[in-house]
Amino acid sequence: MDKLEGLVAEIAAEMAAQTERGKVASYIPQLGKVDPKQFGIAVTLADGRIVCGGDADTRFSIQSISKVFTLTLALGKIGDALWRRVGREPSGNPFNSIVQLEYERGKPRNPFINAGALALADVILSGHRPREALGDILHFIRHVADDDSIAIDQGVARSEQETGFRNAALANYMRACDMLESPVDFVLGVYFHHCAIAMSCRQLAMAGRYLAFSGRQDGRTVLSPERARRINALMLMCGHYDGSGEFAFRVGIPGKSGVGGGILGVVPGRASVCVWSPGIDEQGNSRLGRLALERLTQGMGWSVFGPQG
Ligand code: DON
Repeated sequence: MDKLEGLVAEIAAEMAAQTERGKVASYIPQLGKVDPKQFGIAVTLADGRIVCGGDADTRFSIQSISKVFTLTLALGKIGDALWRRVGREPSGNPFNSIVQLEYERGKPRNPFINAGALALADVILSGHRPREALGDILHFIRHVADDDSIAIDQGVARSEQETGFRNAALANYMRACDMLESPVDFVLGVYFHHCAIAMSCRQLAMAGRYLAFSGRQDGRTVLSPERARRINALMLMCGHYDGSGEFAFRVGIPGKSGVGGGILGVVPGRASVCVWSPGIDEQGNSRLGRLALERLTQGMGWSVFGPQG
């Protein structure tokens, strides 16, 4: 067993024994039914190896991790014109903040808060029907994960559609500011459904390889190295919302969380990592997920801020 395999096994055992696990996100009723006692971890390396621990093959709702993929698609579609629609600054506010959007006249602070992701969905929708836009998103994720079995959990999508009043408020406000092109219902439909995609840690770690390896995976170019670097920068600064500073301080790598309890982490040039534990903290980020990533990056000396002393 090499150092990484030993460490991953150790982290999985340690997380299984934890008692303080955070609370599952019950504001989306279907997510409230998930067993909080689960933990998974998967690490893909530059040589193609994948090291897994715990419930690495259990599928969960990827929620806001999907925003990394919709950002990649939206940038691919309209390039730097995207930055007229959405900013690139940390929000310092909750992911579903309404007040910030009003102060900033309907232009979301960054692509990862909910309002920002609604802008991405609108860009992907442009010129398409919702079904086609969703098809493009699913196709891209299946392609980068190299797995055609990845699908939308329709129960989770319905659950959020029935209760997503804050997101409806954000979308309506953006539309009132002329910041959405497509009908509000279409934008919300695409957004709720891509958040409801179900994937395992193994599948997400595979899907994140292009961010870790300069836009390339499986010998093919997914996007330019410059764009991969920029998405990683946004993940570092904004990927954990008002918990992004704490995540950078403790974990030291770009990461994107979802309220389903997953975190996708990028160690540039070395690894793409996914951890999952359904209990989240007050900022909506997986409690044990962050702890596990902290152990991993410390143990492997993987901070983007410099080598371990
Ligand atoms: O819109 C929502 O509230 C959810 N579909 C996604 C939020 C989320 O995952 C925030 N991340 N930690």
